[in-house]
Amino acid sequence: MTAPTPSVRERIDSLPSSELPAYIYDLESLSAHAQAVRAALPEQVELYYAAKANPEPEILAALGPYVDGYEVSSGGELTHVAKAAPGRALAFGGPGKTPAEITTALELGVRRFHVESEHELHLLAALARRVAPGLRPGVLLRFNLSLPDGSLETSALAMGGHPTPFGLDPSQADPLVRLLTDGTYPQLELLGVHAHLASGLGAPALLALSESVVSWSLALAGRHGIRLPEVNVGGGMNVDYADPSSRFDWTTYGQGLTELLVQHPDLTLRIEPGRALTAYCGWYATEVLDVKRSHGEEFAVVRGGTHHIRTPATKGHNQPCTVLASDAPWPHPWPRPRAHGDRVTFAGQLCTPKDVLSRAVPATGLRAADRVAFALAGAYAWNISHHDFLMHPNPTFHFLGAGR
Ligand SMILES: Cc1ncc(COP(=O)(O)O)c(C=O)c1O
Repeated sequence: MTAPTPSVRERIDSLPSSELPAYIYDLESLSAHAQAVRAALPEQVELYYAAKANPEPEILAALGPYVDGYEVSSGGELTHVAKAAPGRALAFGGPGKTPAEITTALELGVRRFHVESEHELHLLAALARRVAPGLRPGVLLRFNLSLPDGSLETSALAMGGHPTPFGLDPSQADPLVRLLTDGTYPQLELLGVHAHLASGLGAPALLALSESVVSWSLALAGRHGIRLPEVNVGGGMNVDYADPSSRFDWTTYGQGLTELLVQHPDLTLRIEPGRALTAYCGWYATEVLDVKRSHGEEFAVVRGGTHHIRTPATKGHNQPCTVLASDAPWPHPWPRPRAHGDRVTFAGQLCTPKDVLSRAVPATGLRAADRVAFALAGAYAWNISHHDFLMHPNPTFHFLGAGR
């Protein structure tokens, strides 16, 4: 289902061209989706939203009732989320944390740090002693775990299981656990293990991964005769841009986690999805500026482009879209540009052949001034895009529902 919801459609129809492109978010459908996700998960699973997917304050607020906290991955996200969602639990992850960022996190009372290197552990310990002596922040050591061959094969974006700058090498596990348990750093509390290893996985693959991470963590705890009460298995739930009706199976995932927790009733399991929570609530709506034929193919140039929604360029997919024909009178004396074939490639206004939103889309009869709504634009869309390239104006933003 990629067609805009009725309220989104109404907003697209009502906007003058001067307010396009527009990002339009349906907060009611976001709330309903988040509620369903929460309901599919066992109580013992904590749900943190990975703010990097879309940190708009309205999105954070709409998710508020259904999440246990937010995962932030920079000092910028940290201060932004702390302000937009005051009083909520934050987990601070991300490689290359600076002393200033760690200090800010400690001053804000952040309780969970996903520590990504040995240096970072020493730094956190030193700063915690100096900046927040009474806080005793919690540490989850983030590991880039080795996985059984092929277990990340279906991932579009693997961050673990092979050499990457993310997390700690598993060979560092024992010495770092020792540092946190032998009295060297009493100002830190070792809470457990974090492992976000890949994005774009289906429920069975993600469950298998979660099981591996949990059993690896428990073996680590066993070797040291300690209890690791928390395991964060990350996000990475798939969003299928080629088949948007095929959604991540939260029910199967929730059932699998329930079974896993039956074996480990004392464990707090945490997940931190981003994309699969917010992708579906957003649309990038624009209008066709021109239609042209080039070497046998037809192109529609739309207002805006990948400087606003980089998602299709970074992930190499066609952004799913719906054409909304416009019956407004054509205001010029010359003919209205139109498509003559049945497939059109939607390109943006940038001077680069990479500025393509969707290729060979069925769009018979498409005409200039028709509108197009690109779906699944609620995650890793506006906030990952290079807005200033070519200095076109920014889109307008609309948050529908939830009291608006
Ligand atoms: C550490 C960490 N956690 C969670 C996420 C969210 O992943 P996704 O949006 O695929 O669910 C990411 C994404 O890169 C990440 O790096």
